[in-house]
Amino acid sequence: MQEFLGAYYLWIKAVHVIAVISWMAAMLYLPRLFVYHASAVPGSELSETLKIMERRLLKFICNPAMIAAWIFGLLMLYANPEILQGQGWMHAKLLFVVLLSGVHGVLAKNTRLFAQDKNAKSAKYFRILNEIPTVLMIGIVVFVIARPF
Ligand code: HEM
Repeated sequence: MQEFLGAYYLWIKAVHVIAVISWMAAMLYLPRLFVYHASAVPGSELSETLKIMERRLLKFICNPAMIAAWIFGLLMLYANPEILQGQGWMHAKLLFVVLLSGVHGVLAKNTRLFAQDKNAKSAKYFRILNEIPTVLMIGIVVFVIARPF
C-alpha cells in the first residue's frame, strides 16, 4: 500500500491541493452570505434564496471538499510518516487545519440556524467570523510551503 501511495504521491498531492482550494472557496464565501442574511427579513424572498445558496454551498462543495482534503492529506502522511517526526511546520499546519475544521463546524451550525430562521447573530459578527478562515489559510500555506521551523 505504501509503495503504491509513494508511486502516486504527486497525484495524491495534486488532488489534495484541488480539494483545499475548493474547501477554502466555500469557507470564505459562506460567511459572506451570512453577512447579507443577518440583515434580511425572515421569510422574505432574499432570505429564502440565501437559505438555498447556503445549503447547496455547504452540502455540495464545503463538506465534500473538506472530506477529500482530509483523506488525501492523511494518505500522504501514511505514505510519508517521517514528515511528522520533528517537522514543526507540519505540526503547526495540522493544528491550524484542526482549528479550520472547527470553524467549518461553526459555519455548518449557522447554516442550520438560518434555515430555521433562528439566527441571533449580527452582520458584524459574521464579518469578523469571515476573517478567521482567511488568517488560518495564510498560516497553513506559509507553514507547508516556506516551512519556517
Ligand atoms: C485537512 C487536513 C490536511 C492534512 C492531513 C494535510 C496534510 C498534508 C501533507 C502530508 C502534505 C504533503 C507535504 C509534502 O509532502 O511535502 C500536504 C501538502 C500540502 N497541503 Fe495539506 N493537509 C491538510 C489540509 C490542508 C489545507 C487546509 C491547506 C490549505 C489551506 C493545505 C495546503 C497544502 C499544500 C499547498 C500542500 C503542497 C505543499 C508542497 O508541495 O510543498 N493542506 N498536506
